[in-house]
Amino acid sequence: MNEQKLSERLERVAAHVPAGARLADIGSDHAYLLVALMKRGLIETAVAGEVALTPFNAAQRTVRGNGLSQRISVRLANGLAAIEPADGITAISLCGMGGETIRDILDRDKARLSGKERLILQPNGGEQPLRHWLMENGYRILGEEVLRENRFNYEIIVAERSGPVLYTAQELYFGPLQLQARSPAFLVKWQRLLRLKQRTLSHFTQARQAVPEEKVQELTQQVGWISELFAQEGEALKG
Ligand SMILES: C[S@@+](CC[C@H](N)C(=O)[O-])C[C@H]1O[C@@H](n2cnc3c(N)ncnc32)[C@H](O)[C@@H]1O
Repeated sequence: MNEQKLSERLERVAAHVPAGARLADIGSDHAYLLVALMKRGLIETAVAGEVALTPFNAAQRTVRGNGLSQRISVRLANGLAAIEPADGITAISLCGMGGETIRDILDRDKARLSGKERLILQPNGGEQPLRHWLMENGYRILGEEVLRENRFNYEIIVAERSGPVLYTAQELYFGPLQLQARSPAFLVKWQRLLRLKQRTLSHFTQARQAVPEEKVQELTQQVGWISELFAQEGEALKG
């Protein structure tokens, strides 16, 4: 992967960035996403935020190497601290981090969000707590995707602040739109997870050391929800 050829995962993220956006990519690493979008003429201006020095230097190299220093600011900063009000940011991407990390980044500096930005989030796991944060903070989920690349499942969540929104526990777990759409990639992901969780649950019951009851209950509930999902799928196919 490089700024000429994005991974399928980042291509799908790119597809959710509105044309003409003023985009902040937090945790930008090499800044491939921003440079690719800028070279395609799809974004107006951009900020690449990085907390660590090595990826920050890599982002600077990519941006300079492509002659884009006037259009893309590369900043060494923790999370949303990379964004200044004068940037007039209209979209923020946070990709390739755990869902809890993305949630914590958003929560730490909520005051820096104008509430008008589109959030394009690509968590690696931890989607449920991230959706929970979105709901608690009045963000409606407008787009969701599951995709599989290099034997990993990735999710993309697109959200905008809309005012109060309420999702059920299952919607927070599976994703409200994915639960409706039930794409092949979504079903494959949950089939795989069901097998994994059933195996873990049976290890728990055989374990010599006591597993906290809370953990067993949580896993049992998840296995129940996923089984229910496939039972409904079976019914739909029969019906
Ligand atoms: C696995 S990389 C993902 C890079 C790129 N976004 C992608 O999806 O391919 C995660 C990056 O996020 C950065 N990061 C982690 N926490 C951060 C924070 N609080 N603020 C800014 N960057 C952060 C890391 O330094 C790392 O470069």
